[in-house]
Amino acid sequence: MSAVPTTTATELLAAIKDVGTDPARGGYSRHGFDTAELELREWFTAEAGKRGLDVEVDRNGNIWAWWGAPGPDALVTGSHLDSVPGGGAFDGPLGVVSSLAAVDLLRAKGFKPSRPLALMVFAEEEGGRFGVPCLGSRLLTGATTAEAALKLKDSAGDTFADAVKAAGLDPDRIGKDEEALSRIGRFVELHVEQGRGLIDMDAPIGVATSILAHGRWRFRFTGEGNHAGATPMGARRDPMLPASQLILSARWAASSVDGARATVGRLVPTPGGTNVIASSVDVWLDARAPNDGRTRSVVERITAASKQAARDEGCELTVTEESYGDTVHFDAALREEVVAALGKAPALPTGAGHDAGILAAHVPTAMLFVRNPTGVSHAPEEHAEPDDCEAGVEALAKVLEKLAAE
Ligand code: GLV
Ligand code: MN
Ligand code: MN
Ligand code: MN
Repeated sequence: MSAVPTTTATELLAAIKDVGTDPARGGYSRHGFDTAELELREWFTAEAGKRGLDVEVDRNGNIWAWWGAPGPDALVTGSHLDSVPGGGAFDGPLGVVSSLAAVDLLRAKGFKPSRPLALMVFAEEEGGRFGVPCLGSRLLTGATTAEAALKLKDSAGDTFADAVKAAGLDPDRIGKDEEALSRIGRFVELHVEQGRGLIDMDAPIGVATSILAHGRWRFRFTGEGNHAGATPMGARRDPMLPASQLILSARWAASSVDGARATVGRLVPTPGGTNVIASSVDVWLDARAPNDGRTRSVVERITAASKQAARDEGCELTVTEESYGDTVHFDAALREEVVAALGKAPALPTGAGHDAGILAAHVPTAMLFVRNPTGVSHAPEEHAEPDDCEAGVEALAKVLEKLAAE
């Protein structure tokens, strides 16, 4: 390596600030293997190349940038570059740019890892395009099968199989990848905090303890499409009625279970015309709670209320579980090592899902959070101050330095 670049996380984020902006929604819409995400993947590959890291893409489209020879038992850090529709600039990219900036910091001080070290970019973490979150890490670990993934469709009707093919991957090789997984010895993900925990603790950096049990369910109500003006009110089978009952029941069901959350952020009526009674409507429910039992009980209450409302309106209902993951408790021993590397850092749980949560079922995993002064995430207002981003890079560098020297 000749000239070793030294960049800050803020400078790296500035370099990608125009990629995937969404003027209609505000913020960014960058989804797995779409034009914006592919551009960001190329950008990451070039940045890794500038640092002399060897880049490879695994069978499931996750990018690995190796400092030194590839694993096994490597120390791995990374996050994702895709966003929710109209998302913020930090959820995902902050972890990716911080991993590059941490390598710069470590290089500048002459550090050489004594074990393989890789930076990773996971594919389709938000599920913003194909509906299933953490698709790259789920496929890698086998949490989602190739069979299920390949037939997922985006809103344009393109399948995941089409998308991976267009991105240069082989759909026949998608799926559980024991060899790639065995290369990860320990995984550390840095992420912008998505709530107010660190604001309340007046701390720039924290260490994650757990992730809520959470999943996504698709409720399809089917009624009878008809004319808005010519169909008397008593002669309708309008699926929007039970759909609205579902939304109301999500609020009361989650409010009555300790620590639970339930959200309907996406509802798609078919055909979707102002003067048309919908023939069907798909309603996506996101439900989360501190444990499996409470999450399931929230979903059961919502399902029961939805079934009753569908019956009342003469509609049919089918419910599909699109994804699910039980509560994640991050590895206590690794968390202690991370805190020891930092000297001091508050611990906090999170309600957000992450690739680190999927990997945690297979390898010791830890997460660092960077304070978000707005407390808002999955929206353009998500933020992290440059000083806090740099504190995050320094913290990540300290953690990598300690763990890669072992
Ligand atoms: C992803 O960030 C999620 O928690 O849904
Ligand atoms: Mn997110
Ligand atoms: Mn994220
Ligand atoms: Mn996430």
